[in-house]
Amino acid sequence: MLAQIKATAAHLQEVTNNFNPEYGIILGTGLGGLVDEITIQQAINYGDIPNFPVSTVKGHSGRLIFGTLGGKRVIAMQGRFHFYEGYDMQTVVFPVRVMKYLGIKTLFLSNASGGVNPSFEIGDLMILNDHINLFPAHPLTGPNIEELGPRFPDMSDAYNTHLISKAKGIAHKLGFKVQEGVYAGLSGPTFETPAEYKYVSKIGADAVGMSTVPEVIAARHMGIDCFCISIITDLGVEGKIVQVTHEEVQHVAQIAEKKMTQLFKVMMEEM
Ligand code: HPA
Repeated sequence: MLAQIKATAAHLQEVTNNFNPEYGIILGTGLGGLVDEITIQQAINYGDIPNFPVSTVKGHSGRLIFGTLGGKRVIAMQGRFHFYEGYDMQTVVFPVRVMKYLGIKTLFLSNASGGVNPSFEIGDLMILNDHINLFPAHPLTGPNIEELGPRFPDMSDAYNTHLISKAKGIAHKLGFKVQEGVYAGLSGPTFETPAEYKYVSKIGADAVGMSTVPEVIAARHMGIDCFCISIITDLGVEGKIVQVTHEEVQHVAQIAEKKMTQLFKVMMEEM
């Protein structure tokens, strides 16, 4: 595994002329538009990267972007790998590990989620301040790769508090309403039943989705700081639950994306 990570990183260094990004970005469902704000030096299709899996979901175009955003060198994944697609957890987190070997110190993530906090509204942005891992598999099971990080990684600061307060300050200045809360990650691909939405709410989550948690675990294992924004695309709140479709999730995500993009861009400028 480690050899594959290093081989892929070495290949990317070679084809990008040793571009060494400071920041990693992972863009979720319907949220690839941030790429338009990146001054692209190079974009590589996942299919052209050795050892890289290929994304299968609609709305995930599957490119690795090298460029600058807000004057900072970034590497952005336009489209991520989900557990529900059938990838094992090692594969889901493979790109994050490659990004570490390319030099990133901080990882920005985005996703779409269902809000279970009754004060949330469709289209809200939620800054993650914690997560609950409900996936049936964990990316760090098996022999620990000591070179990546410790056997028992700390998760007390999974979402960097400094970055959270910075983001809240910027959102305030931009006049954006932002929510803050706990994201429960589970496998999907079904959306939740009403009872499941109630369950995640009762155990302390504010929103629920099918990504992010594995990547953040792998990043924290390697000492990478994480910051994540979720777009609330539907509500799992009693009395407000309606049928959810992937198309509706993408539609809402695309509308709210503009705010998220601006927030990420200004954050990057101020880093
Ligand atoms: N549940 C799980 N994942 C999601 C949801 C949801 O309601 N909305 C967007 N992604």
